[in-house]
Amino acid sequence: MKIGVACDHGGYTLKDVVSEVITKCGHEVVDLGTHTVDSVDYPDYARKATTLLNGGGCERIVLICGTGIGMSICANRVKGIRGALCHDAYTARMSRRHNDSNCLVLGGRVLGRDVAQDIVEVWLNTPFEGGRHQVRVNKIDEQ
Ligand code: RB5
Repeated sequence: MKIGVACDHGGYTLKDVVSEVITKCGHEVVDLGTHTVDSVDYPDYARKATTLLNGGGCERIVLICGTGIGMSICANRVKGIRGALCHDAYTARMSRRHNDSNCLVLGGRVLGRDVAQDIVEVWLNTPFEGGRHQVRVNKIDEQ
């Protein structure tokens, strides 16, 4: 899979950690920045990634800001994007099994390196269960 990764300055330190896991799991990272710790506006970076997910060549995206909240709000305003702000492997696993999340959101000031690695690995490797969950996911896009 091609996976777009975008962050603001609050998520910058976690971007490389996330990218390493994606590569290690056999996927391709599309690095959308930011590339320094200088202050930037997270909606600008969320937009770069959500554009790529909606027919722009990426099958999934990962967004990282300080808390994950701003990126999460931005992602979930875009039709077809199911952004999941995850804090542990359990929420990451369930976001795939039940919600078919195509956008993982992380808080760079909330998560430690090892927990973040765990989340990304589980999120990449857990399939969607479909069935009754597909019916529910379809209803999201009908709204
Ligand atoms: C930036 O200081 C911070 O507000 C941003 O990274 C994010 O946490 C917003 O939700």
